[in-house]
Amino acid sequence: MMKGVILSGGHGTRLRPLTHTGPKQLIPIANKPVLFYAIEDLRDAGITDIGIILGTNMPNKIKDALGDGSRFGVNITYIMQGEPKGLAHAAKTAQEFVDGDSFVMYLGDNILKSGIEEFVKGFDESNFSSRLLLQSVEDPRQFGVAELDDNGKIINLVEKPKEPKSNLALVGIYLFKNNIFDAIDKIKPSWRGELEITDAIQQLIDDNYDVDSFVVEGWWKDTGKPEDVLDANQLILETISTDIKGELEDDVRIKGRVVVDEGTIIRSGSLIKGPVSIGKNCDIKGYVGPYTSIGDNTKIIESEIDSSIVIGDSYIRSDKRITESLIGQNTKITTDKDAYPKGRSFVIGENSEVKL
Ligand code: DAU
Repeated sequence: MMKGVILSGGHGTRLRPLTHTGPKQLIPIANKPVLFYAIEDLRDAGITDIGIILGTNMPNKIKDALGDGSRFGVNITYIMQGEPKGLAHAAKTAQEFVDGDSFVMYLGDNILKSGIEEFVKGFDESNFSSRLLLQSVEDPRQFGVAELDDNGKIINLVEKPKEPKSNLALVGIYLFKNNIFDAIDKIKPSWRGELEITDAIQQLIDDNYDVDSFVVEGWWKDTGKPEDVLDANQLILETISTDIKGELEDDVRIKGRVVVDEGTIIRSGSLIKGPVSIGKNCDIKGYVGPYTSIGDNTKIIESEIDSSIVIGDSYIRSDKRITESLIGQNTKITTDKDAYPKGRSFVIGENSEVKL
């Protein structure tokens, strides 16, 4: 039976300070951690034996979120990678778990519209040693890039090339058979000091094994940077349907598709203009505009917000509209018109960004 391996390690440096409180794979998109989408994709493709590779950034938070996998209808095994020494190194730590089967390797910060059912189909029975999910992108230089022959067979792969030979980027979802582990044993660390899975697949090609490609249509996001997280939130919110479990006071206007979860109260006079997802136990008065996700236990008082993610446990009372913002857990944003001095006051961490 085919297995699944999801990579949930890495430092998440490009998402600091959000990753100071947990792994980047737990950042919520439309109020659901990125990692959950990967698990659901595997499950929907019939893959229920899933290994989760853990790094050093609070791995227990991932264990707490996923448990044994039964709430998703899958069976989860945790595998410790430790320091992020590269995607091929991570894959190698899963060798014992994979135990001779073929497997899907899924980077845990990726999110894909179409799922992976079509991609996985027929691979087990084929003569291919690997199959790679690709997407045509405008600027492939920040990705692994594949070159194909006329039959869609991969002839060449380069990680983050300065001069890409095509615009087909590696999406970060791979199918492998067991000989990938021999290829990994042969490669050396790259210029960035990592054992690259891209190099290991190139090694398979050099050893005359066949590597197949599957070009995916529809959106795909690697949520490595704040703007990508906001983009992914927008794309997922496009797909939600209205579901109001919380309480709406009189004179609340709801427009478009809006989710309001249990225990949340929307106060009189508010306008919620979807697509919007509001979590549990929130208290909202004001305007929540399109493409906004508000996490559990958040209080918004007489404020306007749109195109943003509030992760949760936050307090917002702002006289200026908040837009295109990524607001971490347990954050307070306030305007106090009566207090002196009249300056703006911040307590912010490294890698923060404030636009006034
Ligand atoms: O997003 C697609 C790209 O992902 C591909 O086009 C590239 O070929 C591939 O190398 C990869 O590039 P990134 O530079 O984006 O990979 P990143 O270091 O962000 O790691 C991807 C995920 O894997 C992330 O969720 C963290 C996790 N990871 C990473 C490393 C290096 C691990 O679990 N262990 C590791 O050792």
